[in-house]
Amino acid sequence: MAIGRHDITSGATELERLNRELRSLTSQLSLAEERERRRIAIELHDRTNEILVSSMIRLTALAKSTADPALADTLNEICQLLRQLAQETRLLMFELYPPSLYYLGLEAAIKELADRMMEKYGIRVSFTDDARRKPVDVDVKVLLFQAVRELLTNVAKHAQAHAVSVSVSGGGGNLRITVQDDGVGFDNAVISDGRKSGGFGLYALSERLRHMGGCLEADSGNWGTRIIITVPLKER
Ligand SMILES: Nc1ncnc2c1ncn2[C@@H]1O[C@H](COP(=O)(O)OP(=O)(O)O)[C@@H](O)[C@H]1O
Ligand SMILES: [Mg+2]
Repeated sequence: MAIGRHDITSGATELERLNRELRSLTSQLSLAEERERRRIAIELHDRTNEILVSSMIRLTALAKSTADPALADTLNEICQLLRQLAQETRLLMFELYPPSLYYLGLEAAIKELADRMMEKYGIRVSFTDDARRKPVDVDVKVLLFQAVRELLTNVAKHAQAHAVSVSVSGGGGNLRITVQDDGVGFDNAVISDGRKSGGFGLYALSERLRHMGGCLEADSGNWGTRIIITVPLKER
C-alpha cells in the first residue's frame, strides 16, 4: 500500500502535537513538584522543628536534675543527636524553600546555596555576580534557584570535581547563570535524550526554562562541564 503525502504530513503534525503536549506536561509536573516542596518545607518548619526544640529543652532539664551521672550522659548524647537532626532539617528546609530568595533576592539565595553546598559536599564553590539589576518574576526566581540547586547537586553526584564556579549576570535583556565544574564531564547527547532521567533533571529543567522563554545550553568534555541558563528579564 502506498503512503500518500497527506499521511506523512498529518503524521508529522500529530507528532508535533504530541511533542508539545509532552513539553507542557513536563512543565506542569515540575510546577506541581515545586508546590509540594513548598508544602513539605512549611510542614517541616511548623511541626518537626517545634517538637525537636521542645524535646531538647526537656532532655537538657532532665539531664541537669538527675543524680545518676550515667543517665545524664545518655540524655546529653540524645540531645546532641537531636541537635544534629535539627541542623539537617534546617538545611533541608532551606533547600526546599529558601527564605533569602523571598527577602534578599535571587543572587543572595544562590550565594547562600553555594556556601551550604560547599560545606555539605566539600567542593570549592566560587560565586560571582555582576551586581546589575535583574528583574524577574517570583516564579522565575524560584525556578532559577531550583535550577542551580539541581546543577550543583549534579556536580556533587556525578562530576568528581574539585571546584565549581557559579556566576550570575544580567545584560542584553537576559539573566544568565553559568555553572562550571572541573570534573569528568559527560556525553553531550545526554541532555537531548535526557527523558529517562526524570525528576528535576536536565531535561525537565530545560523544558521548564523553554516554557518561560529561556533555554539551557550544556558543554562538556574531559575538562569538565559548563551549563548556561538564560531567561529573559522582565521589561520595566
Ligand atoms: N556536572 C556533571 N558532571 C558529570 N556528569 C554530569 C553532570 N551533570 C550531569 N551529568 C550526567 O548527566 C546525567 C543526567 O543528569 P540529570 O538529568 O540531572 O539526571 P540525574 O542527576 O537524575 O542522573 C547524569 O546522570 C550524569 O551522568
Ligand atoms: Mg540530577
